[in-house]
Amino acid sequence: MIYLDNSATTKPHPSVLKSFQQASESFFANPSSIHQLGGEAEKLLLKAKEQAAEILHVNNNEIIFTSGGTEGNNMAIKGIAFAHQARGKHIITSQIEHPSVMEACAALETLGFDITYLPVDENGVVSLEDLTQAIRNDTILISIMHVNNEIGTIQPIEKIGEIAKRYPKLFFHVDHVQGIGKVPLKLNNSGIDLCTISGHKIHGLKGTGILYVNNRTKLFPLFHGGNQEQAIRSGTENLAGSVAMVKALRLTKERQANEAKELAELKRYLRVSLQKIVGVKINTPEIAAPHIINISVPGLKPEVIIHILGEQNIFISTKSACSSKQKDESRILEACGFSKERTTSALRISLSYDTTKEEIQTFLQELEKALTQLKEVME
Ligand SMILES: Cc1ncc(COP(=O)(O)O)c(C=O)c1O
Repeated sequence: MIYLDNSATTKPHPSVLKSFQQASESFFANPSSIHQLGGEAEKLLLKAKEQAAEILHVNNNEIIFTSGGTEGNNMAIKGIAFAHQARGKHIITSQIEHPSVMEACAALETLGFDITYLPVDENGVVSLEDLTQAIRNDTILISIMHVNNEIGTIQPIEKIGEIAKRYPKLFFHVDHVQGIGKVPLKLNNSGIDLCTISGHKIHGLKGTGILYVNNRTKLFPLFHGGNQEQAIRSGTENLAGSVAMVKALRLTKERQANEAKELAELKRYLRVSLQKIVGVKINTPEIAAPHIINISVPGLKPEVIIHILGEQNIFISTKSACSSKQKDESRILEACGFSKERTTSALRISLSYDTTKEEIQTFLQELEKALTQLKEVME
C-alpha cells in the first residue's frame, strides 16, 4: 500500500497506540475521583499537560486537551465571540479556512456577528495590508490558518502576530492543524492567543487534540458541566487520549528536528517529476508546506484517477477529505483565482515522514500510466 493522503489523516504510530493502551489499562480511574486511583490518574493528566507545555514552550495551564481540530477551532472562535461580544462583534478570517472555521464563522453570522473573509492572492496567501485595513474598533478576533489543508500554502503568521500585538483588545487564533510538526511556529510572545492542534494528523489518534489558550485569554465554554480543563471544557477527561496526543506530539517534533530536510527534498523531487508529466498542472506554490502538493489534470475527472490508482493500492485525495464528497469545485483553488478547468480537476498528494522515495517513484509511474490510459479512452 502507498498511502499519500496524510493530510486527511495519518496512520497511528505503534508507540502512540501502546501509550494509549497502557494508560487505559493502568489509569482508568476518573481524574476527579478523590480516591487514590483518581489521584494517580490526575497526576498523569497533569504530567501529560506539563510535557505538552514543555514541547510547545508554553505554560502548563495554557494547554486544554480537546477532541481534535474541529473542536479546538469551534472552541476558540465561538468561545471568543460569546465571551467578548459586549466589546464588539467583528471577526476577521480568510476565504481559505477549513470548514470548521468557515462554518463556525457562518453560524456566528446568523447570531449577528460580522465576519470579514480576507481574499488570498494566486499563491493562496492573505495580504497584511488587507488584514490591517480590515481591523476595526469592534474587531474581537483574527482567525487565520497556518498551513492550508488543500494546497499547503503557509500564511505569514509571525507577521500577523506582530500586527495583532498592536491591538491588545483583539485576540488572534491560529489553526495549526496542518502545520504542526511540519512548519515551525512559535507560540509564546508571538501575538498568538489561541492555537489549534489535532492528534490524528501527526500519527496520533482520532478524537484527540490540544487547544493552546494563553493566560490573558478568556473563553466562553462550549461545554458546561463538571468544570474540568479549567472549566473551559467540562467532561470527564480522555486521559489515555491525552497521553497518546502528547506522545504523538513529541514524536512529530523529533521527526521535524531530524527529518525536515529529507521530507522537503522528497517533495521537491515529487514536484519536479510531476511537472514533467504531460497534462499535469501544479497548483501548490513553490514556497509551501513540505508535505502537501495539489495538482490539476484539466479535462479528467479526479475521482476516476483516484479510482485507477486505488486499484494499484495507491491512495491520494481530491481536495480535502472534509469536502471531497461535496461539490466538484475546490473553493480554495477558486479563491486563488484558478480557472474552472483547474478548480474542478484537483488532486491532493500529501506525504508524511514515513513516505519513501520508492513509494513516490511508483506513484509517479502509476499516475503517468493512468493518465495515458484515460487520454486514450477519450481520443
Ligand atoms: C486545517 C485543518 N483544520 C482543522 C481540521 C479538523 O481537524 P479534526 O479532523 O481533528 O477535527 C483539519 C482536518 O482536516 C484541517 O486540515
